[in-house]
Amino acid sequence: MNKVSYSIHQNVGVININNPPLNLLGYGLREDILNQITEAQSDTSRALVIICQGRTFCAGADIKEFNQTPQTPVLPDLITAVEASKKPVIAALHGTVLGGGFELALSCHYRLALYSAKVGLPEVKLGLLPGAGGTQRVPRLVGAKAALDFMTTGAPIPATEALALGLIDHLVEDDLLAAAQLLEQRATCHRVSGLKVCETSYDDKFFAEYHTKLAKTMRGQQAPQRIVDCVEAATRLSFADGLIFERNQFMVCKLDLQSAALRHVFFAQTQAKNSAKKYQAKLLDTQQQTNITRVGIIGAGTMGTGIAMCFANAGLQVTLVEINQQILNKGMLMIRKRYQSTYNKGRLTQEQMQQRLQAITPTMAMQDLNQVDLVIEAVVENMLVKQDVFSQLDAICAPHTIFASNTSYLDIEAMADKVSRPEQLVGMHFFSPANIMPLLEVVQASRTDNATLAAVMAVAKVINKTAIVAGVCYGFIGNRIYSRYLKEANLCLLEGASVAQVDQAMFNFGMAMGPFSVSDLAGLDIGYKARQTLTKEARGPSKFFRVTNMLVEQGRLGQKTGAGFYRYDPKTNQRQVDDQVMVWVAQAARLEGIERHAMTDTEIVRRLTQAMTDEGNQVLNDGIAQTASDIDLALIFGYGYPAYLGGPMHTASVQ
Ligand code: NAI
Repeated sequence: MNKVSYSIHQNVGVININNPPLNLLGYGLREDILNQITEAQSDTSRALVIICQGRTFCAGADIKEFNQTPQTPVLPDLITAVEASKKPVIAALHGTVLGGGFELALSCHYRLALYSAKVGLPEVKLGLLPGAGGTQRVPRLVGAKAALDFMTTGAPIPATEALALGLIDHLVEDDLLAAAQLLEQRATCHRVSGLKVCETSYDDKFFAEYHTKLAKTMRGQQAPQRIVDCVEAATRLSFADGLIFERNQFMVCKLDLQSAALRHVFFAQTQAKNSAKKYQAKLLDTQQQTNITRVGIIGAGTMGTGIAMCFANAGLQVTLVEINQQILNKGMLMIRKRYQSTYNKGRLTQEQMQQRLQAITPTMAMQDLNQVDLVIEAVVENMLVKQDVFSQLDAICAPHTIFASNTSYLDIEAMADKVSRPEQLVGMHFFSPANIMPLLEVVQASRTDNATLAAVMAVAKVINKTAIVAGVCYGFIGNRIYSRYLKEANLCLLEGASVAQVDQAMFNFGMAMGPFSVSDLAGLDIGYKARQTLTKEARGPSKFFRVTNMLVEQGRLGQKTGAGFYRYDPKTNQRQVDDQVMVWVAQAARLEGIERHAMTDTEIVRRLTQAMTDEGNQVLNDGIAQTASDIDLALIFGYGYPAYLGGPMHTASVQ
């Protein structure tokens, strides 16, 4: 079927695009639109409108083409032809008008949009920049600052905001074609390329300051900085020269390892998002799968409250159970405070806040879980307590209820032993803060069945988490790899590095925080207590945790006690290097028989990243992770590994 059709209605030549599902601007589509624009120049139409069928106007370029030799017409060819049209061209926008799709719209002489539409230039998220005129046209329409805010975040904005900024011309209730026909009578060829960037939107220092700001907020990333260069070029070069500058910068980005890494992450996420379907496909009858609408959470502590919010945010009903009334009240207060703060920032309406709060029912009665479809325990990390919880649930819950544990390390199999339907038990490992962190590890025990996995993966999508499936082992995928990384950090410490040097080296590498700062934040007692439950053999050599043990045994549990690997200012909580810690490090090294020597930052980074990759390979070999890209997602979205390096497995594969 032809992807582009054409007909004339009341003087308007309608270029109708139908390339489902997203009307992506792949090679064939570009060629068809270009041919149509060219042919329409000599027919009886007085204006042209580009409109799309299906759920959206063109939602971008086709990323799959990025790794191939570009076929002409490339997008800039099409866009130049559209803007050069002798007849006014009107873009009729609906859905999510993103990337190349929005650049096509910007080359049109008018932009009409449905109220429900969103527009955006998200290229930066793939380590790229809008390379088909976007960086030159957007500042001409909205000024330098608004253009940079729009393109360096890459976040789509609602049509109403785009109208206020000047990115689109008119909002339409429902009939885009009728609106385009009305506009035709007064439309002229209004070319954005003919405008100048408003001179009051920047001054001499503006671009340098924007570079500095991005160096902090988007640390280590090249593409946002190049977008600034392009917008600066738009202020000083002619439109034609600006386009050449933009094209060169785009090609540099495209060949950059950062873009390859971010594209790898994008595809890994898409694959993870679709994995619910994989488990559904394994079911003979989809009726077997539980449709989860009512959820029970046990434990109203750090994790339970965050997990309850995840489900309430998605419109599911939550019953939150605690054994301690005071903690339950405190937990609900915390949830209310978090919603209030989101409301204060204008990201939630009063009505939404009320709906979400009302969706969570606090209770002290386990019996109230008798009708839920899924129950997630987030009680203390203790096997006996967790086993007792599951025994109770087995007696209380409906036959279809899925049982899940949020354990960080413990053996899910031993929990499954306590229920009469072990095939309905699974791990759901959220990350703290659970209402914000995007990762979910779904742990498949030996008896977990496909119906349970399909239901859990489907609900993960509903609560907007990137879910990866892990097998059972101590720490699953993420904590197992991160533990190995922490061990290596401790070894570097004993062998000669300082706490601050290791942290700074890893921060400079791109990690969100250095390993010792993370440990202080999480609390050193957590790992300490976990180690006590392990056999000596499972704990491994004492050199990996001797320093941490020394700190814990002196009451230095991290930020919460004002001291751990660092000291924390009691008023500001500001981190301060503590020389005393290095005295203990030297003492620990002597006890371990390790001679200390100076270590370079390069060596620290090499050893710590190698530790992650080595353990990642082991995790793959043991069948704990299904793909290397799942490991990358875990480390990026759960542990602050820089996305622009693609995760430890990807980084190793391109070295
Ligand atoms: P927490 O100590 O803040 O909360 C646990 C809550 O469970 C307490 O309020 C306690 O009163 C309650 N509780 C204990 N037994 C109960 C029972 N029988 N019935 C109802 N409530 C009961 O602990 P946190 O940090 O929320 O951890 C919970 C679980 O989540 C643990 O398994 C932990 O390993 C895991 N986890 C923790 C993460 C973290 O960063 N804190 C991250 C990921 C997982």
